[in-house]
Amino acid sequence: MNVFTTKHALQKAISAVREVNSTLGFVPTMGALHEGHLSLIQTALDENELVVVSIFVNPTQFNNSSDLEHYPRSLALDKTKLESLGSSKILIYAPEVDDVYGEAISTSTFDFGGLEAQMEGKFRPGHFDGVGTVVHQLFKIVSPDFAYFGEKDFQQLAIINKLVELTESPVQIVGCPIARAENGLALSSRNTRLSLEEQGHAAKIFAILKEVKQKFGTKNANELKEWVNHQFDNDAVLSLEYFEISDEITLKPMRNKQPNTVYRAFIAVHIRDVRLIDNIALN
Ligand code: PAF
Repeated sequence: MNVFTTKHALQKAISAVREVNSTLGFVPTMGALHEGHLSLIQTALDENELVVVSIFVNPTQFNNSSDLEHYPRSLALDKTKLESLGSSKILIYAPEVDDVYGEAISTSTFDFGGLEAQMEGKFRPGHFDGVGTVVHQLFKIVSPDFAYFGEKDFQQLAIINKLVELTESPVQIVGCPIARAENGLALSSRNTRLSLEEQGHAAKIFAILKEVKQKFGTKNANELKEWVNHQFDNDAVLSLEYFEISDEITLKPMRNKQPNTVYRAFIAVHIRDVRLIDNIALN
C-alpha cells in the first residue's frame, strides 16, 4: 500500500486509478488508528470504489501545545492496520505540514452559527476554526464524493456539516456510530496514552452516560447535571471538565424539555493530562 506524502502525487494516483462514474470516499484522520477508524474506513470501502485515508496531525486545531506534542504518532503501524483490511482500494495521504498549509501556517475563521460556541468550543478556543481550516483544505486536495466522520466527535460532525454548507463544498458527509471497547469506553487515539488500569477507570464515563439516558425521562437537566457532578466528587482518577445536555441540532443546552426536539448528553473528562470525550443520544 503506497503512502503519498504530497497532494500532487496523491491527485495523480487518484486520476490514474479512478474509474468513470465511480465514487471516491474520504476518511480524514490524525493517525494512531484504532478499530473506530477502521470501521469508518470499512464503511467507506463498502460504499465507494476508491477510498483516501489521510493521516495528518493538524497543528491548528490544538489549543494546547503539550496536547499537540504528546498526540500519538504511529505511521508504520497505521499502514499495517490499513493493510490488514485487505483492500486494494485504499490510498493513504500522509503529508507534512507545508503540503497542506504552504510555507506559513494560518487558520481561517468561520461563522458556524453558534455551534462552535458550545462545549468543545468553550473549552478549546480556536479548535473548530482549526478543524474547519484543515478539513476544507483536505476536501480541496482530495475532492471526495463522500467523507466519513465518527459520532464520538458529535460537535465536530455538526461543524463539518455546517462547513460544507458555508463553503458550498460538493461532498456528502456521512456520520458513523461510536465504536466502543468491551468495557464501553469510546475508542480514541488518546486511549493509547492510558494504562490498562486507567482504561478500566475510564469505563465509568459511558456507564454514567447510560445512567443519564435512563434517568432522562424523569429528571430535568439541572438534576442530571448535579447527579453527574456528584459522581466525580471523590474520584481520584477521573476529573470532570463538562457535562451538558443539548439539542442535537443547535447544540444549545437544554433548559426545559421541548416536544419534537432530540437531545444528547455530552461529556469531557480528564485522566491526568489525557482528555476524553463521549456522548449519548437521549430520546
Ligand atoms: O477527528 C479528527 O481526527 C480530526 O479532527 C480531523 C477531522 C481529522 C481533522 O484534523
